[in-house]
Amino acid sequence: SSYWAVVPAAGVGKRMEADIPKQYLPLRGKTVIEHTLARLLQHPRIQAVVVAVSSEDRWWSGRLFQDNERIIRVAGGAERCHSVCNGLEALMSLAATKDWILVHDAARPCLRKEDIDRLIETLHDHPVGGLLALPISDTVKRADAGGTVLETVDRKGLWRAMTPQMFPLAKLYQSLREAIAAGVQVTDEASAMEWAGFSPRLIEGYSDNIKITHPQDLAQAEVFLKRQERGE
Ligand code: CTP
Ligand code: MG
Repeated sequence: SSYWAVVPAAGVGKRMEADIPKQYLPLRGKTVIEHTLARLLQHPRIQAVVVAVSSEDRWWSGRLFQDNERIIRVAGGAERCHSVCNGLEALMSLAATKDWILVHDAARPCLRKEDIDRLIETLHDHPVGGLLALPISDTVKRADAGGTVLETVDRKGLWRAMTPQMFPLAKLYQSLREAIAAGVQVTDEASAMEWAGFSPRLIEGYSDNIKITHPQDLAQAEVFLKRQERGE
């Protein structure tokens, strides 16, 4: 079967506190999103990348990728899940219903080829799909709104969800649409699949696949990219 990517890139990057959306900030000579798209486009199994861009986005036009025929631009939505849905809708007329879709945040520029390889290899015999994740290594506390500890949560079996999250096109599109229509809080693709009754599989990824969220994350991403360039 074929593989396609959907990249939600329609956020404003509020927590980043920059003048422009974080996906357009400079990072080692390119913008963040250029790194992200290049990592997906360079993978031999990925046919094309659908990017959800806000209709108010003034930074996308004139970008390097505009003339690339393996990049398909769609409109973003009010929340991440709506942006992803728009991307999937575009693919419904291009791809087969059983094709695999890798949804990957524009704000994760340090994704490694090995991560994509492992997703594809592992999910080969797990047709529901799954996602990259990291086992939690810190002790986890639950607290009240004032920051007073209520309890220590057993961290056994707890993981941090990352992207790419990889699912078959039609199942993902249907699950996401139904979950959104039902008013479910859909923070990632897996949660929509879980809501629809599927059990996604977790695949341990590299810890350098961070989501650029806060100002200090950009420097961290730079360190990771440098290390990757040295082959580490
Ligand atoms: N995203 C999107 N459409 C939205 C909101 C977010 O496509 N309506 C994308 C972002 O561009 C990002 C990814 O979803 O690539 C993960 O979201 P997040 O890290 O929360 O990015 P922002 O929403 O831009 O940041 P913030 O929440 O700090 O405003
Ligand atoms: Mg957000």
